[in-house]
Amino acid sequence: MSLLDIIDVSKSFGGLQALQDISFSVESGEIVGIMGANGAGKTTLFSLIAGHARPNKGEMIMAGQSLKGLRPNRVCRLGAARTFQIVRPFRNLTVLDNVMTAVLFGRDHKSSKAEAEIRARQVLDEIGLAERADQAAGTLTLSGQKRLEVAKALATGPRLLMLDEVMAGLTPSEVKEMLAVIRRLKDSYELTILIIEHVMQALMGLSDRIIVLHHGEMIAEGTPAAVAKDPRVLEAYIGGAA
Ligand SMILES: Nc1ncnc2c1ncn2[C@@H]1O[C@H](COP(=O)(O)OP(=O)(O)O)[C@@H](O)[C@H]1O
Ligand SMILES: [Mg+2]
Repeated sequence: MSLLDIIDVSKSFGGLQALQDISFSVESGEIVGIMGANGAGKTTLFSLIAGHARPNKGEMIMAGQSLKGLRPNRVCRLGAARTFQIVRPFRNLTVLDNVMTAVLFGRDHKSSKAEAEIRARQVLDEIGLAERADQAAGTLTLSGQKRLEVAKALATGPRLLMLDEVMAGLTPSEVKEMLAVIRRLKDSYELTILIIEHVMQALMGLSDRIIVLHHGEMIAEGTPAAVAKDPRVLEAYIGGAA
């Protein structure tokens, strides 16, 4: 059985069709990349799954349970966590307190603060932020803030981790580190990952499968190699610019 089934999902904002009749499934343990130009509907897809916005039509099923109409905290408790493209730390809280908050409110919520702190420090260690634990979150570099987004999502104890452009704006060496972190986390937590990146390159080596959105429609789905030479993808990416 697939972990996530998206069935015929559409979302409009006023007159704007952000997503139209999107259907796909994600198997347990897969890394599925989501590609598409700015405005293609990628972030909206995560918002629908995570309960931050409601679809106008369609179904979303995780491990046999409908996500439709559930609030974000319920979706989180069921084991789906997202990061935000525009990072959203509690800027005045320390890095540690940000992650502890996620532990305390997540799926694996701990009953005591002491337990939550142990868990949060472990996550920070795994993500390479241990030395920043006592610093205010707002003082982190961009790379640090992207890591903190991943740490907060991970600390909620997800089965499905949704990463929204966590490599955008990073230097090539920071991108390499982030890719290594994602691979390591996937293995140690047996995660299923949906990952949005603007740039094809970063997704090619990481993803088992890639989905391409274009103006709210799904124009391709397949292995990275197949998608990279799909005529509709080339037209959308290169044709428009050529
Ligand atoms: N809350 C919103 N209200 C109105 N329009 C929105 C909202 N969120 C997204 N949109 C619009 O929906 C389209 C898809 O946006 P988005 O999902 O953020 O694209 P992507 O993440 O692929 O860049 C864009 O045209 C965007 O302006
Ligand atoms: Mg986006």
